[in-house]
Amino acid sequence: QTNQSWGGRFSEPTDAFVEQFTASVNFDRRLFHHDIRGSIAHATMLARVGVLTLDERDAIIQGLGEIEREIEEGAFPWSVALEDVHMNIEARLTEKIGITGKKLHTGRSRNDQIATDIRLYLRDEIDAIDAELARLRDGLIELATREADTIMPGFTHLQTAQPVTFGHHLLAWQEMVARDHERLRDCRKRVNVMPLGAAALAGTTYPIDRHVTAELLGFERPAENSLDAVSDRDFAIEFAALASLLLMHLSRMSEELVLWTSAQFDFIDLPDRFCTGSSIMPQKKNPDVPELVRGKSGRVYGHLMSLLTLMKSQPLAYNKDNQEDKEPLFDTLDTVKGCLRAFADMIPAIEARADSMYEAARRGFSTATDLADYLVRAGVAFRDAHEIVGQSVAYGIEQGKDLSEMTLDELRQFSAAIDEDVFEVLTLEGSVAARNHIGGTAPDQVRAAAQRARDALSAL
Ligand code: ARG
Repeated sequence: QTNQSWGGRFSEPTDAFVEQFTASVNFDRRLFHHDIRGSIAHATMLARVGVLTLDERDAIIQGLGEIEREIEEGAFPWSVALEDVHMNIEARLTEKIGITGKKLHTGRSRNDQIATDIRLYLRDEIDAIDAELARLRDGLIELATREADTIMPGFTHLQTAQPVTFGHHLLAWQEMVARDHERLRDCRKRVNVMPLGAAALAGTTYPIDRHVTAELLGFERPAENSLDAVSDRDFAIEFAALASLLLMHLSRMSEELVLWTSAQFDFIDLPDRFCTGSSIMPQKKNPDVPELVRGKSGRVYGHLMSLLTLMKSQPLAYNKDNQEDKEPLFDTLDTVKGCLRAFADMIPAIEARADSMYEAARRGFSTATDLADYLVRAGVAFRDAHEIVGQSVAYGIEQGKDLSEMTLDELRQFSAAIDEDVFEVLTLEGSVAARNHIGGTAPDQVRAAAQRARDALSAL
């Protein structure tokens, strides 16, 4: 028994292993909603142009509706012998409504059908991811507003550099994901173009109206070129690329969360519900969620590389290689959605340990640059000021004192330009408040930046 959909020219059945090897139904069945949606639009269009009768159209739509319910209820007889989601559904339709079911595929090929299905599916997933990104950004903005005055050490080389506000740090994260959000929206424009009507590769001889189908499916327009429409998968690569950037950003945030929850930093507390314990060490509370998100970036980068390599050097038009686009794309989507959900839930639950952050900023000579700037304002050249402050820091290390803890006399050993007013710049509060310009870490700037971020988000 050869495959019913294309067995006409074959004289022996497919090898049993080849049948398994070439089948995609075990993973492309998740496209069933979109496959059915595409088929209903196609049948509607065919009836509109007179290729199907209205009765035929109605029978097809009714049959597809029943099939959709069967699949949802887990009652659908999936068959690997029928290769993919398209032929499984079509065969079942013919079982249900007879010969009319066989007319559905008029003027269509699985090549334009699958290209359309993936775009419809990806478009819905993009919209779901869009909503999660907005939720994450909102959480970051709200937490930043709450923590606009909280002082922590800012780092370069992971060494204490200058004091910053925790709100400022959180808004840096917000900026990263805001760009990812923009990339997602941009990618959606190129996903939202309809391949249907390209048929196998050259178009079809039936008097189809692709504008009707595009409109029914909510596509921006029909794809311009049939060869390109069935073969191209760059939209999936583009999505995997922006997903990789997003996961890269989430991995950076994760890394900081992991560090900050450690006893050594002790900057934040993650509520128990986002952590797990150890089966041997009773004291442990591990930040598994950020660790896992950090780790999951790897598989998304891998999928990007798979998809790029899949498409490399493929001649026009459709090649079976393209069937390999689905698993990397699906796993990318599942991973992105999972990581975003975890982050969007977790961010608002972060509790800052303000005392501990403050203490860390105080310990690390984080206002040394402020002292140098102070000296410059008093007429000392910056290089000399750098040297003077360096000597003060060396003294502080020896004495176990931060700059702000030294007496005026102690400070004046290094420069006579230092006066009583130096203590205004040596405090952590003075240091952050002085960085009072757009993009700076001053609490007032953080509040203003949070408001702008909130406005940008609600204008989307
Ligand atoms: N399962 C196929 C895919 O995912 C559908 C298109 C098959 N077309 C073909 N001519 N074999 O790409």
